[in-house]
This record gives sequence, structure tokens and C-alpha cells, in this order.
Amino acid sequence: MTTASGLETVRATAPAAAGAGAGPVPPSAPGNGIVARGLRKTFADLVAVDRLDLEVRPGEIFGLVGPDGAGKTTTLRLLCGILDPDAGDAEVGGRSVRQDPEGVKALVGYMSQRFSLYGDLTVAENIFFFANLFHVPADERRRREQELLEASRMTPFRDRLARNLSGGMKQKLALTCTLIHRPQILFLDEPTTGVDPVSRRDFWKILYGLVRQGMTLVVSTPYMDEAERCNRLAFMHQGRLLRCASPRELKQDLPGDLVEVAGAPAHELAERLRGLPFVDGLQLFGSRLHVQVARAGESLALIGQALRQAGVQGHTLRQIVPSLEDVFISLVRSPAGGQGFEAGAGKTEGAG
Ligand SMILES: Nc1ncnc2c1ncn2[C@@H]1O[C@H](COP(=O)(O)OP(=O)(O)OP(=O)(O)O)[C@@H](O)[C@H]1O
Ligand SMILES: [Mg+2]
Repeated sequence: MTTASGLETVRATAPAAAGAGAGPVPPSAPGNGIVARGLRKTFADLVAVDRLDLEVRPGEIFGLVGPDGAGKTTTLRLLCGILDPDAGDAEVGGRSVRQDPEGVKALVGYMSQRFSLYGDLTVAENIFFFANLFHVPADERRRREQELLEASRMTPFRDRLARNLSGGMKQKLALTCTLIHRPQILFLDEPTTGVDPVSRRDFWKILYGLVRQGMTLVVSTPYMDEAERCNRLAFMHQGRLLRCASPRELKQDLPGDLVEVAGAPAHELAERLRGLPFVDGLQLFGSRLHVQVARAGESLALIGQALRQAGVQGHTLRQIVPSLEDVFISLVRSPAGGQGFEAGAGKTEGAG
């Protein structure tokens, strides 16, 4: 259902008809886990999600990470049973999104990217609305409301109109409304985009609390610092999954070493180093340049020499530990990943 205020809920969405395509998913998603096999969704001739294989373990925070248009929202909507896949299937908490989308919807909570509250209703009235939508019994509703408001430290704002809440509080209220029917698996689509850093930290504390209670969380984000907070994550680009692993594994798997060059305009540094035989990749990070090389030891000297010969003065060089953004860019540029580009594939706050 989409209300006048753009609000969407899982349960109120019309069931999608089962489509043609792949067979059943292997039964390897115990408990609150998710296994997707060959999920595909097209809109006219645009492939939004392309043969996606994914496993989310029960009780983990799993990140779907990628730039605008990567296919994050479409993937979440497929996994929630809201969108019908063109091909493939996913088992979510033991239920097939293709064969039992209604069963999936009953099991999951979905906080959509444009989740909007009723601004002219109070915090408590918004919660009441969602509790009714999900048929939560009245006594149960009061208990859950109290619990959830306390957990998010929103109790003092119970009677405030939703439109008068800060951005961070709005997101906390949206989360509360999503949790009111006690979902076992929670899908959050960019829940902290546009929220200030302090509120984001608060929001993540709540998410960690939910995982401690045994919930499985799938969170989409374009932010690499947020990706770092996930147990495991899937990098998506142009509808495809580039790689899925823990943040630490992803960084360890980046081939070669990384050298940061600073102290001169980064685009000028890039001009001078592009095409040199010992340079495997270049990435602009604001005023700095990241140079991917086979071995930092010998490359530091070679880079310094190349810059001096080109007349670039006053630069500094150091080997650095790769960030998730470095990993993402490297994957996008790899032959299997997609076409290369130099800047701005992912969003890292404070960089770029
Ligand atoms: N209902 C739709 N009709 C047509 N095209 C769509 C529809 N939904 C998504 N798309 C297209 O599918 C692609 C993936 O979109 P999607 O919303 O899943 O990406 P996203 O990773 O969530 O992006 P963002 O970070 O901007 O939210 C985009 O090219 C988008 O324009
Ligand atoms: Mg989206």
C-alpha cells in the first residue's frame, strides 16, 4: 500500500503473482536466514537485479552496499515478497518468495527508503496506526509500544507530532513502527541516509540490540563507513553482486598494496602516474590519490621518482591500509566487475 504520504508497508502490499523461472532454493537457510538463488528482476529492458546469489546467516547484520541505482531497493523488495522475481527464488526464514510471498511478508519487517510517517499524527498515534495495520492485539500493542519507545529513548516524545521530530527521531519512529509486529527478519533500506552522525550512532546501537535478541537484519547503504558496521556485506553494482564477505575479508582480498599520494592537486598527480607500468589502479579521494601497486616497498620509490621527473613538488607518499571504498572501486574496475572509472563510485562521508 502506498498512502498519500508515500508510506509503504509490507503486509498491505498486494501479493505478487508467481513468475516463471528457476526451481526451488536448496534448504540451507535455517531459522531466520536467507538464501537467494538466481534472483532476477527487470523493468522493461532495464535489468535491475541480475542473477543474484546471496546467503544471509541467521542473527547477522548483513549489508547491501552500492551506489545509486545498484539494485539495493529492488533486491530488498524481492526478498520481502513485495516484488515478484522474473527468475530465481529466495528462501526467507524458510519461506519461498516465489511460492509463499504472503508467508514471507508476515515474517519480515520492511522499512522502505521513503518510509514516511503521518506528520499530523503524534508518535503514539503513528505506532497505533501500524499496530492496527498488523493486527497487533491492544494489550500487546501497549506493551510493545512502551518497550520500543524506551529502547529508542523516544518515550518523552510520545505526544509530539511526527512532523515536528528531528530527522534522526523520525527514523527511530519509522523503525519502531516497523518493529511493532515483532518481525524475525528486518529489512532496512538506507535507514540513516540524511541523518546526523550522532543520531546514526544511536540508530546503530538500536540495531545491535535487535541482533542480540536474535533478529536477522539486512541493511542497505551507500555509505562505506556504515558498511564497516555489518558482519558481512554484499557489494552491488549495476544489478550484480560483485563480492560478498566480511569487511575484514574484503580488505584482505584486495590484491597488492595501496599507496596514498598527497600534497599536490590529486588530478595532476593522477595525470602524471596514469599508464605507468607499476601502477595497477588510481583512485581520487578528495585531495588525495590512492595508487594500487603490486608491492609498496619498491613502488614508493618509483612513484616518487616519476613525480619528481614530472616536476611535481612537495608531495608526500605513504603506504595505507585499504578502505572498503578502495575495495569497491577495485572490484568495479576488475574485468568481471564492470567498466573502470576513477572517482565517486561509493559514498564515504567526509571523502570525495
Ligand atoms: N519500478 C521501477 N520501474 C522502472 N525502473 C526501476 C523501478 N525500480 C527501480 N528501477 C531501476 O532499477 C535500477 C535499480 O534501482 P534500485 O532502486 O533498486 O537501486 P538502488 O541501489 O536502491 O538505488 P538508490 O541508492 O538510488 O536507492 C535503477 O536503474 C532504477 O532506475
Ligand atoms: Mg534504493
